[in-house]
Amino acid sequence: MTSCSSTTAAGPAWMPSSIVESAGIPAGATENTFVVQFNDLESLEYQLKKHEGEIACFILEPCMTNGGVIPPDPGYLKGVRELTIKYNVLLIFDEVKIGARIAPGGGAEKYKIKPDLITLAKAIGGGTPLGAFGGRRELMELITPLGPAVHFGTYNANPLTTTAGLTCLKEVLTAGKYKEMDKLGEKYASGLEEIIKRLNFPASVTHEGPLGGIQFVPEKPHTYREANQCNKDLWREYWYGMLSKGVIPMGSGWFEEYSISAAHTVNDIEETLNITEDVLKTIKNKLL
Ligand SMILES: Cc1ncc(COP(=O)(O)O)c(C=O)c1O
Repeated sequence: MTSCSSTTAAGPAWMPSSIVESAGIPAGATENTFVVQFNDLESLEYQLKKHEGEIACFILEPCMTNGGVIPPDPGYLKGVRELTIKYNVLLIFDEVKIGARIAPGGGAEKYKIKPDLITLAKAIGGGTPLGAFGGRRELMELITPLGPAVHFGTYNANPLTTTAGLTCLKEVLTAGKYKEMDKLGEKYASGLEEIIKRLNFPASVTHEGPLGGIQFVPEKPHTYREANQCNKDLWREYWYGMLSKGVIPMGSGWFEEYSISAAHTVNDIEETLNITEDVLKTIKNKLL
């Protein structure tokens, strides 16, 4: 999915067109890919049927984080798995942002769906720049030295990053820590919802465990397009308002998410909620 703001250029919701987000992307990249709507099995089946036998894989974030945080609707990922098997298409979970964050085994574990391949990156690096992928044995055996696909690289199996990643996974992200982060995630999301309700602010909250977002649309979005209806002026006021009070609430785009880490405490959550209430009150007085 792209963060394009024009739904007209992006075509109908059930059959979106590819929109190039950056200069330097060759035409072949969009000609050889199809975009489907998240949480929309009909949109997926339409493309799989239309291009049967031509599609190698379907890649998605099982919980879409680049649109606030949009969890999968009940049954969506099960349907995705069934359709990809039916049409003989590999299912790849992009767990770059959620792997090891929403559960020790990421989205695959959380939603109990077995993809064919998984991509992982920053979330498992213990603060260092680590990337990884893995999956079914017969697919991994296609890579050198066992198979014909070459996978060389300067940083492959880099000892520093792999040690940092492993140490973080074993010693920081313990079972108890996941429980703690989930609890803080619930406290923060429900606190935000209460503030929004109290102020009658036109926003909603979506979250999955310690990740989430204030969506500046009144109803919780289920698709990227619904999230993209976000009132960008309100979001900008919120983001700069929070920064000016010493809190980085999320990355610098409306489609990013907040992230509660292993280091956060109940006090951090309470303090952030108090600051959020002040900021939203100020925005309400100024703009609404
Ligand atoms: C969901 C998702 N997948 C993949 C990537 C790209 O990851 P990398 O820079 O490790 O290739 C990003 C970038 O942040 C991302 O948000």
